[in-house]
Amino acid sequence: MSKITVWFIKSALVYFMLAVILGLHMAVSGTTYPYMPIHAHFNLLGWMTMMIYGVGYHILPRFSGKPLYSDKLAEWQFWLANIGLVGMALGWIVRSWQGDSRMLLIFSIVEAASAVIFVINMFKTIKAAPPVPAK
Ligand code: HEM
Ligand code: HEM
Repeated sequence: MSKITVWFIKSALVYFMLAVILGLHMAVSGTTYPYMPIHAHFNLLGWMTMMIYGVGYHILPRFSGKPLYSDKLAEWQFWLANIGLVGMALGWIVRSWQGDSRMLLIFSIVEAASAVIFVINMFKTIKAAPPVPAK
């Protein structure tokens, strides 16, 4: 596995554990803000999306028979995805304490930028397999 795949899978596992802990907390003490959106996004952007990023970086170039378009973009994408998600979680906490959404907005844009970079890198990597020659 490439280092980017390992980094994404390890991050996904960590977010999953944090999300499960928050989920158990909510199951016991109720769904007070900001736990609900943090739980949802640690699961959906952290666990699920980052697992898909990691597995995608491994298998999609292989399916295409082509190397990944850019390893550098993939590294940038990894850091933006993590900084964005942790920042979003802190942004939800700040919003629940002070009613100020600016931090959430800024890190949401960082997270969205990371998603766009992944899409661009994959669009440039994937290509249809050549048709199987007739016998
Ligand atoms: C041990 C694992 C988990 C526990 C204990 C748990 C617990 C909870 C609890 C207590 C709520 C609040 C529900 C309510 O009262 O309205 C909740 C909401 C939610 N959970 Fe989990 N959860 C777990 C795993 C997951 C996973 C794996 C995902 C997604 C992949 C997920 C996605 C969500 C989402 C999206 C919400 C918000 C639903 C809404 O907007 O109404 N959870 N979870
Ligand atoms: C850049 C990516 C994303 C951003 C910036 C974002 C942002 C948000 C925000 C601001 C909310 C409102 C939460 C609140 O304050 O109550 C929300 C809710 C929600 N989002 Fe996302 N989201 C993103 C990606 C996703 C993805 C990929 C999924 C599903 C796969 C998802 C599923 C949900 C769900 C289920 C809720 C309702 C959660 C709740 O009940 O608290 N989001 N999102």
